[in-house]
Amino acid sequence: MPYDPTSQSNLDEVSTSHIHLVLAVDFAAKTLTGSAALDVEAIAENVSKVVLDTSYIDVRAVSAAGQALDFNLGVRHEKYGSALTIQLAQPLAKGEKTKIIVEYATTQECTACQWLEPSQTVGKKHPYLFTQCQAIHARSLLPCQDSPSIKLTYSADITTPLRAVMSAVPKEEIKHDNAKDGAAITTFKFEQRQRIPSYLIALAVGNLEGREIGPRSTVWTEPEVLEAAAWEFVDTENFIKTGEELLTPYDWGRYDLLVLPASFPYGGMENPCLTFVTPSLLAGDRSLVDVVAHEIAHSWMGNLVTSQNWEHFWLNEGFTVFIERKILGRMKGKEHSEFSAILGHKSLQESIDLYGKDHPFTALRPCLRGEDPDDSFSRVPYEKGFNLLYYLEKHLGGAEVFEPYLRAHVQEFAGRSINTDDWKAFLYTFMEKEHGQEKVDLLNKVDWETWLSGTGMPPVDNKFDDTLAKACSCLCKKWDDSRHEAHPKEFESSDIAEFSSTQTVVFLEKVADLKPLPHGHLDLMDEMYHLTTVRNSEIRLRWQLLCLKADYEKIYPEVVAFASTMGRMKMARPLFRTLYKAKNGAELARETFLKHKSFYHPIAATMIAKDLGLAK
Ligand code: BES
Ligand code: ZN
Repeated sequence: MPYDPTSQSNLDEVSTSHIHLVLAVDFAAKTLTGSAALDVEAIAENVSKVVLDTSYIDVRAVSAAGQALDFNLGVRHEKYGSALTIQLAQPLAKGEKTKIIVEYATTQECTACQWLEPSQTVGKKHPYLFTQCQAIHARSLLPCQDSPSIKLTYSADITTPLRAVMSAVPKEEIKHDNAKDGAAITTFKFEQRQRIPSYLIALAVGNLEGREIGPRSTVWTEPEVLEAAAWEFVDTENFIKTGEELLTPYDWGRYDLLVLPASFPYGGMENPCLTFVTPSLLAGDRSLVDVVAHEIAHSWMGNLVTSQNWEHFWLNEGFTVFIERKILGRMKGKEHSEFSAILGHKSLQESIDLYGKDHPFTALRPCLRGEDPDDSFSRVPYEKGFNLLYYLEKHLGGAEVFEPYLRAHVQEFAGRSINTDDWKAFLYTFMEKEHGQEKVDLLNKVDWETWLSGTGMPPVDNKFDDTLAKACSCLCKKWDDSRHEAHPKEFESSDIAEFSSTQTVVFLEKVADLKPLPHGHLDLMDEMYHLTTVRNSEIRLRWQLLCLKADYEKIYPEVVAFASTMGRMKMARPLFRTLYKAKNGAELARETFLKHKSFYHPIAATMIAKDLGLAK
């Protein structure tokens, strides 16, 4: 029986197999209005009710087979929303099915949706709407069993004045003339034929144009950035092919990309058939496209094989990072994937330092009973998960043994939702069947308890190839050694000319870990390396953090400018947190956030407010 502490649905009694959405997009009212039709099946005997998750949804009527049904919207649970309890006309026997239609509208409080004013888009002429459902925000977009243990197909008819795209295959566009004001409206029809968890339902509506970038890929975005987007993501097809070589054939038909406005709260989101990405990837040098490799890896890890609930989130993200780095290694060479692992290890250490090494959320498999998954989100599931798989690969005999296992894992669990025990049981089964007792003995030597339930850093300290990291440490040491010189002469622009952007990032992170350098040195570093004006968002972030840690007040206006136009939480949150702690920074951080609050997606706004002590 699926267990999910973050859903209020009666998951032990019913299971949804398909949802059909009919929604009209109203930009003036900032609402979606229409219905969700759910095909549900009883998975227990004598089921008399269906309980759905909702959050800030206005439920207007519920019916089945043309007959109105009684329903009750429960008192709101602070984190999990309001349970919608629907009384069935007759109890269902196990295996019996019914179609339930919920008529509803979203409200302005719905956390999945961000409604942008024209001024918040690139083109400044048209409004824009996009959704972000992971982890538990789908319930604010539609009433559903909002648990990744439930996998369903979906279809949708979206009526809107601007183009709509979804995490599904587009089927048809029907144009209508709107009698009222003469503006054309269109119904866009979509279909997702693969069974997916609710958190992968996604919608965006705006002034969107597409351009083909590969045999199964189109990049969608506002026309003003289409050219840049098509250029940046040319490697998409190669990533997919490499994923197919490693695992199984890509099973989703299309792999399109949507480049969102700047307020998109993540780097990327693996919405099936249509990955959503932040425009901050458009560095102009293709240096940040690893995010696309990551989202492509989710096509197998997460979207085909899904974590059963958010306590097993590492099965999505840890596996995805592991595959992402394998793709990177195959395309660019091993030293690049190992370098990425070094960077990841550092980010793991930072996450653990931020929580404290005994904090329950630093465990790979945390307990989320009563918790909001957004609060437990950190690098831990990504990097501790990656480190476990990296260690297992080495321990069990290397890629030769482990890559066939990864493929078998996908074949075994495709289309299903699994937990950590399912994962581990199959790992044992595979190793025993393919390699016998010798590998089982090795598996028995793994300290599972500490890996899975222990808090803090992983029990094994993996060693990564540091070919690319060495140059970063050397240059960092040179700066450290120069700290007592009044006018250091040993630095030149060419110091970092040969660096990849990731090497510059690592160099700056290392410098940020030192006792702050004198401000004169920061002046010099900026003069030499042009860090304040750099376009690459990852470098800009590290430079600004380094300066903030040194209370280098000259940088504050730059931080304000960056943080107030960057919706990606990975960047905005550390900027605000570090400004808040910097000398004379606290008020400025709060003021800046409050002034620009409407810029951020509701999920990001909530998290930043918490970080700044403005919410609990
Ligand atoms: N699925 C995640 C984003 C996510 C996680 C959204 C949890 C909501 C809740 C996505 O695949 C992701 O990991 N994005 C990263 C990309 C990076 C690891 C390459 C990001 O946004 O930074
Ligand atoms: Zn991911």
